[in-house]
Amino acid sequence: MILPIYLYGHPVLRKQSPDITPDFPGLKELVENMKATMYASDGIGIAAPQVGVNARVVYIDVSVFSDTFPELADSKYVLINPHIEVLDDGEKCSREEGCLSLPGIHEPVSRIEKIRIKYLDEEFNPHEEVISGYLARVMQHECDHLDAVLFIDHLSPIRKQLIKGKLNNIIKGKVSCDYRTKGYKK
Ligand code: NI
Repeated sequence: MILPIYLYGHPVLRKQSPDITPDFPGLKELVENMKATMYASDGIGIAAPQVGVNARVVYIDVSVFSDTFPELADSKYVLINPHIEVLDDGEKCSREEGCLSLPGIHEPVSRIEKIRIKYLDEEFNPHEEVISGYLARVMQHECDHLDAVLFIDHLSPIRKQLIKGKLNNIIKGKVSCDYRTKGYKK
């Protein structure tokens, strides 16, 4: 089922999402709904708070970029309870980001290039991987959502000031995008 995307301003995006256990109610359905919702809105990653659920669940599919980055072919991940460790030798790199919860806003964000991620798959088997490049960026963006952080939080005060009008419009529900959304005030 395609769910509405919760927009900037909704408190669910500003709440820490806890780890879950295998008996989390409706987990399979949640993951299926997150996939359907992400594909319907042309996203490449989605975190559970974006569909209104504060649980540590993420879905990522960056295979669409495999033309530019061949290593991303088949890069689809269901991440349960992901936790990221930034690697010490990490260099920072700046690249434009957007977010389904912030329609119409695209800004360069500086992030560490290389991470270690620990997560469980859908069967709750543990995994640990070192990831670099574009996928590492997407993983950091999505895991930020689980820690109540949005990509605009990484911007300089000046950049944030420049998009203030757009942010206020999103809070007011004044957005135009071609997927279903749920704002805080409408
Ligand atoms: Ni996002």
